Amino acid sequence: MGSFRNDSNNKKPGRITEKIRNKAFGLTNKDNRFLEWIYKKQIHKSKTYKKFVLPTQLEISSRIYREEREKLIRENKNYERAKEIGDRRLTETHPLFYDFDIPENIGTTVNFYDKKIEYKTVLSLASFEDDLGVIDVWASEGINRTLKTAMLNDRPGNDPVRIADLEKAYNTIEFPENFDEIYKTHGLINAMGLPGEAAHKIRENLSETEFWKDKDNRMTLSIGGESIDGYLEVFKTIYYENYYSPQAKLIGPKLDDAALKKAQYVDFVDFELNVSCPNTRTGTAACDKNLSGKYENFEELLLGIRKITGADSPPVYIKLSPDFEDGKILELVRIIQKYKMGVVLGNTQSAERSELSTKTGGLSGPGLNKRMLELVKLVHENYENVPIKACGGISTAYDVLTALNAGADTAQMAYGVIEDPYQSIAMTNLELSSFCKKNDCSSLDDFRSKSYNERTEMINKYSFSQNNW
Ligand SMILES: Cc1cc2nc3c(=O)[nH]c(=O)nc-3n(C[C@H](O)[C@H](O)[C@H](O)COP(=O)(O)O)c2cc1C
Repeated sequence: MGSFRNDSNNKKPGRITEKIRNKAFGLTNKDNRFLEWIYKKQIHKSKTYKKFVLPTQLEISSRIYREEREKLIRENKNYERAKEIGDRRLTETHPLFYDFDIPENIGTTVNFYDKKIEYKTVLSLASFEDDLGVIDVWASEGINRTLKTAMLNDRPGNDPVRIADLEKAYNTIEFPENFDEIYKTHGLINAMGLPGEAAHKIRENLSETEFWKDKDNRMTLSIGGESIDGYLEVFKTIYYENYYSPQAKLIGPKLDDAALKKAQYVDFVDFELNVSCPNTRTGTAACDKNLSGKYENFEELLLGIRKITGADSPPVYIKLSPDFEDGKILELVRIIQKYKMGVVLGNTQSAERSELSTKTGGLSGPGLNKRMLELVKLVHENYENVPIKACGGISTAYDVLTALNAGADTAQMAYGVIEDPYQSIAMTNLELSSFCKKNDCSSLDDFRSKSYNERTEMINKYSFSQNNW
C-alpha cells in the first residue's frame, strides 16, 4: 500500500522544514531530531525501519494526536469540533506515516456460505465516518474501509450537542462486575442521527476516488433506511455499478427487469444493513415483531435484498443491536441464515446523557466489549455457518483475538480509531502479526482453525504490549 492520496500532489516524505514541523506537528526538539534522522537516512522503507522505528514513530504520532485532541475537548468542550480538527490534522500529518503495509500473516478467509472471501487484514473500520479522505488515510495504515451508513436523502442529523465524551457519565451505564475502572472513562456517546449526503451522491463521489478502483482490499458499504422500501431504494442506488453508465443514468434508481439483469456488482464490496441505529426515529423498526408476533418486516427486507441480488450475491451482513435480547437475536439470525447473509455483532448500546440534545444516544468503546463477546459466542454456538463480524469495544490485538476466539470471522473498530488512529490500526496489525509469528501461524486462518482451548492458551501465554487506554 504505497500512496494514500487520490491526487497526483502526493507529497512523499522528504526533508521536513522547521515551519512545517512546528505548524503541523508541534513536535518536541527531541522528536524532531529523531524524525529528521529517519528521513535523512531515508531508511523508512527498509525492513529494519519497520521492525524498530515504526513502533516508536507511531508512539510519537499517537501521543501528539491524543494531546491535541484532549486539549481541544478540555478547552472548547466540543467533541465534534475536536474530531473535525483531529481529522484535518491527521490528513496533514499523514505523509510522514504513509507506508504501513499490512503484514502478510494477518489476513483471513471467510466462508460466506458457498463462497470464500479473502481479507488481507482481519480488521475493518466500523461504519461511522463519511469523509472519504479521512477513511483513505486510515486505510493506508492497514485497515479495510467501511463508509458511514447511507440514507436515501440528504440529512442534517440531530441538533448539537450530539457527541459527548464518556468521562463522568459512567454511572448512567451498567457495566459488568469487576470491569476495569479505566475503561469506564473511555468511550463516547453519540446521537448523530445519521447525518450525511444522499446515497446517490455518496455513490457518485465514491466512483470518482482512486480507492474505488483499488479492488485489492475489501470495502464495506452500509445501507440505512426509514422504511423497508427506503432500505431497498438505497441498496439499489449503491449496489448497481451501471447506474452510472449513460443508459442506467436515464433509468435512474428505478431499474427495470432488463437493466436489473445487466446490472453488475463490484466484487470487492461487502454490504451491511444498519437496522440497529438507536439515534433515528425508525432506527431498529425493521427488527420489530408485527401484531401477530412475527418478524415479517425483517423477512420482507431480506427477501427484497435477495430479489435484487439473487441468491449468488456479494456478501450482505445485517448489523444487529446489542440492546436486543438473546432470544430476539437468535430469531433474527435464523432468518439471516435463511437468506444466506452474515451478521455484524453489534452496534452502539443505548445510553443516557443529559447534555445531548436528544438526552439519549449510543455508547461506543470498551464498555461494549463484554456484550459483544457474549453475542458472538451465542450466535456462533447456535448458527456455526453464519459469518460474523465482531464490533463493539475492539481496539487492540487482544480484543481482535478474543473476538475471533469467541467465533467471529473478522473484526471492526470505531471508537479505537477515533481515540487514537495510530495505535489502534497500525499497532494492532503489528501485534497481531507478532502473535501469529510467535505461535507459528502463517495467517489468522491458522489461528482460527485451532480448537477453542488451544486458542485460549495461545492468547493467555502471549504477553501483549499494546495498551490503548
Ligand atoms: C460518531 C459515530 C457515528 C456512528 N455512525 C454509525 C453509522 O452511521 N452506522 C452504523 O452502522 N454505526 C455507526 N456507529 C456505530 C459504530 O459503527 C460501532 O458499531 C460502535 O461505535 C461500536 O464499536 P466501537 O466500540 O468500536 O466504537 C457510529 C459510532 C460513532 C461513534
